[in-house]
Amino acid sequence: MCGIVGILGTSPATPRILESLKRLEYRGYDSAGIATIEDGKLDRRRAPGKLGALEDALKASALSGNSGIGHTRWATHGEPTEANAHPHMTHRVAIVHNGIIENFRPLKEELLGKGITFEGETDTEVVARLLTSYLDEGMPPRDAFHKTLTRLVGAFALCVLISGEDDLMFGAREGSPLVVGFGEGENYLGSDAMALASLSNRLIYLEEGDWAELTHAKVQVFDPAGNPVERPTTISQVAATMVDKGNHRHFMQKEIFEQPTVVAQALGRYLDPNAGKVRLPQMPFELATVPKVTLVACGTSFYAAQVARYWIEKLARVPAEVDIASEFRYREPVYMHGGLAIFISQSGETADTLAALRHAKAAGQRVAALVNVMGSTMAREADVVLPIHAGAEIGVASTKAFTCQLSVLAAFAIDLAAAKGQIDETQEAAFVEELETTPKLMAQVLHHDEDIAKIARSIAHARDVLFVGRGIHFPIAMEGALKLKEISYIHAEGYAAGELKHGPIALIDENVPVIGIAPEDDLIDKTVSNLQEIMARQGKVILLSDGAEKEAEGMYAHLSMPSAGELVTPILYAIPVQLLAYYAAVEKGTDVDQPRNLAKSVTVE
Ligand code: AGP
Repeated sequence: MCGIVGILGTSPATPRILESLKRLEYRGYDSAGIATIEDGKLDRRRAPGKLGALEDALKASALSGNSGIGHTRWATHGEPTEANAHPHMTHRVAIVHNGIIENFRPLKEELLGKGITFEGETDTEVVARLLTSYLDEGMPPRDAFHKTLTRLVGAFALCVLISGEDDLMFGAREGSPLVVGFGEGENYLGSDAMALASLSNRLIYLEEGDWAELTHAKVQVFDPAGNPVERPTTISQVAATMVDKGNHRHFMQKEIFEQPTVVAQALGRYLDPNAGKVRLPQMPFELATVPKVTLVACGTSFYAAQVARYWIEKLARVPAEVDIASEFRYREPVYMHGGLAIFISQSGETADTLAALRHAKAAGQRVAALVNVMGSTMAREADVVLPIHAGAEIGVASTKAFTCQLSVLAAFAIDLAAAKGQIDETQEAAFVEELETTPKLMAQVLHHDEDIAKIARSIAHARDVLFVGRGIHFPIAMEGALKLKEISYIHAEGYAAGELKHGPIALIDENVPVIGIAPEDDLIDKTVSNLQEIMARQGKVILLSDGAEKEAEGMYAHLSMPSAGELVTPILYAIPVQLLAYYAAVEKGTDVDQPRNLAKSVTVE
């Protein structure tokens, strides 16, 4: 997703903006640019590709000025070319934008009708030219910016400089997050706390419809009608030091290996092992009164929701429904009175999931957000927040956030079961004790790193790969397929093992690796027989299991996993599928941390 940063500074802005844009790289992008203002004059440099290309452009032709705006663009309208890169500039303004202006075509027609010409094809340029037209009519900057906002329909975060105004910057937030940062005689705008981490930790999270006027000395926030409003200042938890890779090659590798630590942290916030109890955050309702749970998310978070459904129904005997966020509200879901809707999102900003949250809230559901970013929009709009405490996740492919989501959802399922009287104190204590063993077992699995890397290299050039699992491990098969797809670009699918013979087995031949996720549970015999059907057709079976030693002998590869109960195995088996994807991508030389076409947080529908 696009990244925005703006600095009304007292020292050269360009290097500071570049530093902030580097913090935003994890969001995924395909072009970048900076504009500065000095003595009232706007100037800019833009480049397609990664920040290195922009740095080269700046080396060739420096940008001076103590105030400026920067942008990393994830293309929506228009190719990732220099002409479409932000900032967009006219003779009066420089503007950067994250989101989509849905009514840009009629606005463009209106401006073309006034004889205004365009350089590119982006919706953002329309905003720049609309604002310019109001300034050219003689409107004061604040009025011109506000009027422009009233004409826009869609999702946008904007940051604007105006020629002749060295001590002025505007920002606006409608559907895409924007944060104000306070400095000493300086003020800032950014897409998130990470963007501003090296500048300030005193932040205001603009709310929907808010817009802000910044000078070096003052920040004024306004509501959509233009009335001044007060917003709380919070202290950001994001570390000021650049999140670095340590001695790892990629952020993704670092985040895979820090999972035992962060899962232990997450569990530490939700389990009281001495009392043998789960300790969820205070809720404005009694869990015992919840008649149904709806879980809604996208991507990897959706697979966490699918695992949670098994736990909730099996332990708490409460009906649970799972939906892909982008589908949810369009199927006109039938809500149960008093139902609890849980929205799972690492970023807390995914547009599809946020829209679904708002739909459920408007329908009177109790709404919980299970997020990794506490200042996120979902965290602020939910009735109750369940933080996953994974720490900043930089790799676009979600890993530690996924296992932390599962850890918190497992704790939630235990607490719900206890609240419903489905388990007694002794059983709750036993489940808490089982969950407590997770970090140690995860560390054991990570010791297989080299074995998994070897298997990964042997499948890295396959055209198709299948992942299969049964029951609670079916979602792990789908997550494994997603990981492999999104970072190695190998086509992969996750299937319920019992489903293969209903069609997908036609895909099997000696060129198709099949990863079988088969913990020693009550389904292992059926899963192993499905894997043998695959072997009978020359499929290359890679068995992940703590059992089936005998059957494993005839398979292509076998990874012996630690034994654990169903509260733990989905979390454990996430690790080998993450590492398979990681090492396959490394073997193929793809951009592991910022895979092509992807963004870390998809804030457009
Ligand atoms: C996961 O590896 C992907 N990056 C993607 O599917 C992600 O899980 C999805 O976009 C949801 O993001 P969220 O958890 O921030 O809402």
